[in-house]
Amino acid sequence: MEREIRVVFVHSNGRRECHLGRDGESVMDVALDNGVPGILAQCGGGCTCSTCHCYVDQSWYAKCGEMHPDEVDILSFTPNRRSNSRLSCQISLTRPLDGICIYTIDESDKE
Ligand code: FES
Repeated sequence: MEREIRVVFVHSNGRRECHLGRDGESVMDVALDNGVPGILAQCGGGCTCSTCHCYVDQSWYAKCGEMHPDEVDILSFTPNRRSNSRLSCQISLTRPLDGICIYTIDESDKE
C-alpha cells in the first residue's frame, strides 16, 4: 500500500519536515523510517520507555483517540508532560489524521 498519510514534524527551532505514512502505521514508525530527531523510541513501540514522547498540535489532539491506560501510566512519569502530550508509538495513523502536526521534543528537554 502506498504511503499517503502526511505527518508534519515541527522541531523546537521551528524547522518542519513532512513525511508520509500508511494507514495503521504509528507516528513513531514514520519518525523512525525518516530519521526524525527527537523521537528515539528505544522500546520499539512497546509503550514502556517514553522516548517517543511528543506534543500533538491542539487542533489534532482529539482526533488521535483515547489513550490506553498503559500510555497514561507512562506519561504520568514522563518529564515535561503537557496537556497535549502523547507517546508517538501509540498514535495510529488513519485517513482523518492526514496532515497531523507533531511537535518533537529536544533530547535536552527530556532529561
Ligand atoms: Fe517506547 Fe513509545 S517507543 S513508549
